[in-house]
Amino acid sequence: MSELLKRLCETWGPSGYEHQVRRLIESEVAAYADEVRIDGIGNLIVRVGSRGPKVMVVAHMDEIGVMATFAEPSTGVLRFAAIGGLTVHDLVGQRVQFEDGTLGVIGAHQPYKNSNPKLDELYIDTGGTPVAIGQPAAFVHAYAEQGDIRLSKAMDDRAGCAVVIEAIHKLNRKTPNQVYFVFSVQEEVGLRGAGPAAFGITPDVAIAVDVTDTGDMPKGEKTVVKLGHGAGIKVYDPGLVVPRAVIDWMVSTAEKAKIPYQIDMIEAGTTDAARVQLAGSGVPSGAVTIPTRYIHSQSEMVHARDLQACTDLLVALLKSKAEISV
Ligand code: CO
Ligand code: ZN
Repeated sequence: MSELLKRLCETWGPSGYEHQVRRLIESEVAAYADEVRIDGIGNLIVRVGSRGPKVMVVAHMDEIGVMATFAEPSTGVLRFAAIGGLTVHDLVGQRVQFEDGTLGVIGAHQPYKNSNPKLDELYIDTGGTPVAIGQPAAFVHAYAEQGDIRLSKAMDDRAGCAVVIEAIHKLNRKTPNQVYFVFSVQEEVGLRGAGPAAFGITPDVAIAVDVTDTGDMPKGEKTVVKLGHGAGIKVYDPGLVVPRAVIDWMVSTAEKAKIPYQIDMIEAGTTDAARVQLAGSGVPSGAVTIPTRYIHSQSEMVHARDLQACTDLLVALLKSKAEISV
């Protein structure tokens, strides 16, 4: 898992430009799939199994980033737009990289006078290397491990992709369901890939695999999820009230298989499941979540035990027939 996670985290792929990540994932899963296709918006859809209930499992491939919008004529620095939810106050000094490898440093005209700068007070300085406007860039920050801790700027949601890929390998085609593993695009800019994917699949039930906030730091969010204490089972977030039948399915499966889990409720943020539940005539949807500190920072922190628990839970859920009646 570690080596795969590192590779996923280090692959360049801001929202709308997920092709490198998609290529990597496709090569990891093709041998285990009954069908692999890419839909019109760019989602990678991997089907395993040919009969039984249709289960959609979704993890997003994209990461937050920036896009060059304007080159200042006097200095050559680039103005930029946000791709996804940036934490603007800690951008100064960060490096970004365009697809051709060009590096830029994010600067501010008065970095120490304004601790809460707005995006239009910042710029990207490539030191004179030209960049065409309209080019997206991803952040640059090395993947690292320390004990059971894993750090990356792209755990959201490459950690989810790693969990799903690992589950596909472990499942090894043994499922009584038709499972559609969707590696979605453009989650960070508004859950845009998940809807079309669900429209095409018309699943009977859906599971998003994504990161979730922890509440285990002083003065942190009031949520019970702790790093290292198991897979999150989503109950509520601002975009999704998980149907009780889906929660019960996940909790009883975790209990039966003795997989550590935690009830996940957060008051900010959501996942692709929020969009999938609204597809067609409605899809019962939930999420298996990865406890993560410092989401949308350069060092999103996850725990190896939680990644394992999420993988085990996903495999256990898919191994039995998913008959959910809400
Ligand atoms: Co995110
Ligand atoms: Zn995410």
